[in-house]
Amino acid sequence: MNVLVTGGTGTLGRHVVMLLRQSGHRARILSREPRGHVDAVQGDLRTGAGLTKALAGMEVIVHAASATREPLRGRSVDVRGTRRLLQLAQAAGIRHIVHMSIVGIDGVSYPYFKTKLASEAVVRKGNVPWSIVRATQFHDLFEVILRGFSRVPGILAVPFGWQVQPVEAGEVARRVVDIALGQPAETLTDFGGPEIRDLKSIAESWLRARGENRRLINLRMPFKFSRQFTAGRITCPDHKEGLITFDQYLAEKYALS
Ligand SMILES: NC(=O)c1ccc[n+]([C@@H]2O[C@H](COP(=O)([O-])OP(=O)(O)OC[C@H]3O[C@@H](n4cnc5c(N)ncnc54)[C@H](OP(=O)(O)O)[C@@H]3O)[C@@H](O)[C@H]2O)c1
Repeated sequence: MNVLVTGGTGTLGRHVVMLLRQSGHRARILSREPRGHVDAVQGDLRTGAGLTKALAGMEVIVHAASATREPLRGRSVDVRGTRRLLQLAQAAGIRHIVHMSIVGIDGVSYPYFKTKLASEAVVRKGNVPWSIVRATQFHDLFEVILRGFSRVPGILAVPFGWQVQPVEAGEVARRVVDIALGQPAETLTDFGGPEIRDLKSIAESWLRARGENRRLINLRMPFKFSRQFTAGRITCPDHKEGLITFDQYLAEKYALS
């Protein structure tokens, strides 16, 4: 099968591309910076550049591109960019789009999640048969978050009570590939990690694995979304489908015995 992977240079998309190619399928990458990548077309969801070329000859799209690092571009990339991609996809005869999303976004007032919800709506209302996979947060995202909370020397200050369910991106990618190679489900599928944990305990594991001696403190954040995270809204207890725990991820990454 010929599959266009938007976001094929990203954390999830890289795994999707590798798994597709390992199983004999063609995976073409859409990227703003395709240099150094095999079978990659230069394009930009925000402007529409390169999309027609990227779609030519493809049958399925795995849509894993998102303005994850450019919050101000969320609407233009994730919402209007997805709409543009779908319009061209229909003309190009794409038979299935698998759209990547996030568990629990309909119950949470976090700005990026609102953008993701709007992009889901674009996919559902579009004319290309679809599947939407909602995953919980990837292991490496927790490292990014915890680094962000480590700005004060000697201290790691984490929000109080956030309930999280870290998952290995490669396991999510395996599910995404299975769905991409099957029929459009036109439903949402949740995929979560094996454990639901308090962010503070994730932070303890992370400090231990890195041999860091910071004082760990809890902060109460005065935001509605923070209370929603504490209430477990971004977890999916009925879909603990990933096998690799956060501690196993750390042990592998930091070569712990
Ligand atoms: N990270 C998580 O914990 C997590 C959890 C659940 C769901 N998700 C969802 O899974 C998807 C992938 O997340 P990720 O963490 O793997 O993302 P990521 O590593 O931050 O990568 C983002 C990708 O989007 C592409 N991109 C960004 N702006 C673009 C634009 N204007 N035009 C074309 N491509 C653009 C980038 O490609 P270039 O830079 O090469 O152009 C890059 O490959 C997202 O939809 C995200 O919401 C993520």
